[in-house]
Amino acid sequence: MPAWDPVVRLCHWTLAGLVIFDLVYDDGGYAHRMVGYGAAVVVLLRLGWAALRGHSLKPSIAETRLYVRQLLAGKPPRSHGHDPLGLWMVWLLWILVLLLMVSGWMSRLDMFWGDERIEEVHTVLADLLMTAVAVHVLAVVAMSVIWKENLPAAMVRGRKRPL
Ligand code: HEM
Ligand code: HEM
Repeated sequence: MPAWDPVVRLCHWTLAGLVIFDLVYDDGGYAHRMVGYGAAVVVLLRLGWAALRGHSLKPSIAETRLYVRQLLAGKPPRSHGHDPLGLWMVWLLWILVLLLMVSGWMSRLDMFWGDERIEEVHTVLADLLMTAVAVHVLAVVAMSVIWKENLPAAMVRGRKRPL
């Protein structure tokens, strides 16, 4: 069954590559800055695509509660899109990338010359993003085992087995 369209898949792996690059090459140099802007552009393209195609990306507290109860009971239902818990993580990842872009840009403005606070904010945001990515990947692996479905492969090929 189709799960992720080609634009979503391309955006995902491009974003993952750019974010990992910037977490590794974190000197604030030209490549770091351009790759960081690139990551933010990918997030905006993905959000534009969702708006264009009418993808529902609105997290729901009621659905999340139900899902967590089912998860704790050992029976989380599969889905072809995001699961209700995963959707919060998706937003966290996107928002952190956008805030990193803004704080990275601000840290270079003349207005903040000699002011270390923006750089500190940028560092904290980067640490949060690194932690969120680690949790994201661990959750993907855990759910792949629980559902007996290779979720990373589904994000490559775009298909999941029928519900
Ligand atoms: C810096 C690294 C990463 C970032 C920023 C990131 C971000 C995201 C985002 C934003 C989504 C939502 C996709 C959308 O609707 O557009 C997502 C989904 C997903 N990501 Fe990542 N990701 C990263 C690394 C990885 C890695 C290394 C894997 C493979 C193990 C992975 C596997 C997945 C899968 C399988 C989904 C879909 C989850 C599902 O089936 O419900 N991601 N990721
Ligand atoms: C996904 C986006 C980004 C990530 C994950 C990221 C991550 C990081 C990390 C981990 C550091 C090292 C912090 C430290 O050593 O204390 C850093 C430094 C830096 N980044 Fe980024 N960054 C991103 C985007 C950007 C952008 C868009 C710009 C500027 C346009 C930028 C400008 C800088 C600068 C100037 C530094 C060196 C000064 C500092 O420590 O704040 N970054 N970044």
